[in-house]
Amino acid sequence: MAWGGRIAVVTGAAGGIGTAFADRLAGLGATVVRADVRYAAAAGEDRVHLDVADPASWDRLRGLVSERFGPPDLLVNNAGVSARTDLVTTTDEDFARVLAVNAFGAWRGIKTFADDLASTRGAVVNVGSIYGATTPPTGAGTVPSSVAYQMSKAAVHQLTKVAAVELAPRGIRVNAVLPGVFRTPLLDDLPPEAVDARVRRAPMSRPGATGELADALAFLAGPGASFVTGVLLPVDGGYLAAS
Ligand SMILES: NC(=O)c1ccc[n+]([C@@H]2O[C@H](COP(=O)([O-])OP(=O)(O)OC[C@H]3O[C@@H](n4cnc5c(N)ncnc54)[C@H](O)[C@@H]3O)[C@@H](O)[C@H]2O)c1
Repeated sequence: MAWGGRIAVVTGAAGGIGTAFADRLAGLGATVVRADVRYAAAAGEDRVHLDVADPASWDRLRGLVSERFGPPDLLVNNAGVSARTDLVTTTDEDFARVLAVNAFGAWRGIKTFADDLASTRGAVVNVGSIYGATTPPTGAGTVPSSVAYQMSKAAVHQLTKVAAVELAPRGIRVNAVLPGVFRTPLLDDLPPEAVDARVRRAPMSRPGATGELADALAFLAGPGASFVTGVLLPVDGGYLAAS
């Protein structure tokens, strides 16, 4: 398979979806640099501390990847956070934090590695969300709609298109997966009935398995998608089609 000898950087790799992504890429033969704010500074050769909201942290990561492994072939902008508050109850601090991690972080990652990815004719896969394209259920048993999260993911979707257009002449493809509902720690603070309301909204009426999202990542990042760029691919059991 074409992944042998290739280098991938996965952000948010200590979490549910990020771990599945990193494990899949490693299973395909890639050398994977797992980056997460939860890793200690000296977590290991391929486990690296990264705060995607901090420009200096990105610069340190680039230096380290280049020194230890060489320029990456793939950047997966997966790190993300939410704040379960609606439009009027969201604090300025929470709004800024969610936008900084989800939107600024994805942009800064691409900016940081653009020259390296051009040198490898590499790819970027961003992680958007169905909630950057539609809104969650409202009403009994649900929770506030995370206005900052939804705005940040819409920004990631547009970033994907802008980057695809700007970086195509440099040989870099940029796509996004838009997860539906996946039972990861991100949903731990949601009451079960709110998760169920979301799950039931998808015609397939079940949560996704992280392996199903990794299948989409492997396609978008791999040679089978050599003519695919600027795509926002929902992996959502039909959620967006029904919204
Ligand atoms: N779980 C879902 O249903 C779902 C749906 C749509 C989109 N997503 C997106 O999938 C991605 C992964 O989410 P998940 O469900 O695995 O959640 P998760 O909370 O399990 O994992 C998120 C990871 O990001 C890391 N992270 C948070 N802030 C960071 C920072 N500043 N710098 C670096 N790393 C940071 C966390 O430490 C964690 O390991 C996120 O972008 C999320 O928005 C998830």
